[in-house]
Amino acid sequence: MSQNPESKPIIVLDFGAQYSKLIARRVREANVFSLILPYTASVDEIRGHDPSAIILSGGPSSAHAGGAPKCEHGVFELGIPILGICYGAQLMAQELGGEVQPAEKREYGIAHLTHTDATGLLAGMDPQTQVWMSHGDLVTQLPSGFEAIGQTENCPYAAFANPAAKMYAVQFHPEVIHTPQGAKIFANFVHAIVGHDASWTMGSFVDMEVEKIRETVGQKRVLLGLSGGVDSSVAAALIHKAIGDQLTCVFVNNGLLRKGEPEMVQQVFRDNFHIDLRYVDAELRFLTALEGITEPEEKRKIIGGLFIDVFEEEATQLGHMDFLAQGTLYPDVIESTSATGGPSATIKSHHNVGGLPEKMNMELLEPLRELFKDEVRALGRELGLPADVVNRHPFPGPGLGVRCIGAITKARLDTLREADAIFIDEIAKAGLYGDIWQALVDLLPVRSVGVQGDERTYEEVCSLRAVTSEDAMTADWYRFPPDVLARCANRICNEVPRINRVLYDITSKPPGTIEWE
Ligand code: XMP
Repeated sequence: MSQNPESKPIIVLDFGAQYSKLIARRVREANVFSLILPYTASVDEIRGHDPSAIILSGGPSSAHAGGAPKCEHGVFELGIPILGICYGAQLMAQELGGEVQPAEKREYGIAHLTHTDATGLLAGMDPQTQVWMSHGDLVTQLPSGFEAIGQTENCPYAAFANPAAKMYAVQFHPEVIHTPQGAKIFANFVHAIVGHDASWTMGSFVDMEVEKIRETVGQKRVLLGLSGGVDSSVAAALIHKAIGDQLTCVFVNNGLLRKGEPEMVQQVFRDNFHIDLRYVDAELRFLTALEGITEPEEKRKIIGGLFIDVFEEEATQLGHMDFLAQGTLYPDVIESTSATGGPSATIKSHHNVGGLPEKMNMELLEPLRELFKDEVRALGRELGLPADVVNRHPFPGPGLGVRCIGAITKARLDTLREADAIFIDEIAKAGLYGDIWQALVDLLPVRSVGVQGDERTYEEVCSLRAVTSEDAMTADWYRFPPDVLARCANRICNEVPRINRVLYDITSKPPGTIEWE
């Protein structure tokens, strides 16, 4: 290597495949930093990041169709190593003089790769190994200088390379778990071929981001809406490390929080981290606005709208803020690729204080944009946040408002808070908290007859829900040991005065969602 690549990122050019975001993550798992840019990024923009290598992702399009997405041809002339994956492999072949044709047989699913690779890309992989294919086109002729290094039954050029030019390509997806030895390909590419020495860690990410935040913010002021959830907490700790008192956090107690949450947030951030934290008690305002409302979408709209009002009032009192910081993660960024427009990023409206940045003339600061949830948790640990905060299950913005089914009243919310605290406590005591993606309690708009101490009761019913999931897009119900559920039901009925019946929700997603409303 002519230059030490350690401080340089590997850039993933995103052509819109569902799996592209996984590629950047696999590179980071090999202890090398990577960034995702849309395929429309110009060569100048790419050069601006001073990358050590480029990875071209897969994409939903057909390489030989008119209007197929292409990066600038200059990307292939940057003189740094390139790895093309699936669509990226086809684009590389086509741009460099090879040929791509529709395959006679679409290949989708598991295939078996055989290889006799001497280039190093497939080094250490079994000579016959399972790979995941998903393509309708095939490279039918390699560009000059390239050689085939692996094939599957239906794909003679399943892997090909031009080692002298440091160009490599695989038709299959090494980033998905169905390619069990895929991690070797990333390790070979980033270490042996590009020359990185696997020294990048979350600690390096902190140093790099702190530097970047300081540079972006300068002497200006940053406002952050702290919810107590993992993402905004980690964003707050990171930004505070970078700019200290130039950061002001606002925490709105909307009356829809979990038991002990307002106290916990204030203790961690004000007392331990010494962050400038404004606590706004807006419980009465929220509960008044929600009085008599039972329709789920209406609840969400009222909660979201009022949150913006309260936040805006607070921001106005603080004087002009230049940046609005958010803990937006990569999976929150919805990517859409069109032949003409290219990937555009829209942020889930429920994740942020939508509309506020433009209205108040603030810029967005999103230091976690590149990361996945578990990486954010690792970052939080690196920044010294307590395990309770870092490992917390996700909690929706509208909070208990979407778990208090039917009418929302202070009394019902208190009931729900108690039941929720018991459920979480029993899960933690059984050592199961980390196995579960999210556990929650819903209070149902039904009452049922029971008997307690020889007395007839007619009280509330709650439903427990616990799910496992990778990313909340799909989820399965958690198989509890029966005695854990028994303890939960027992304690809830005994300790929560207004509940006399406990159900367990065994609906997966789909068809159910994780939250009930
Ligand atoms: P669903 O219920 O759609 O939820 O299966 C998927 C994940 O998103 C969370 N969720 C929200 N998070 N604001 C949020 O910040 C919201 O309005 C919201 N609604 C659902 C939910 O808890 C689960 O983790």
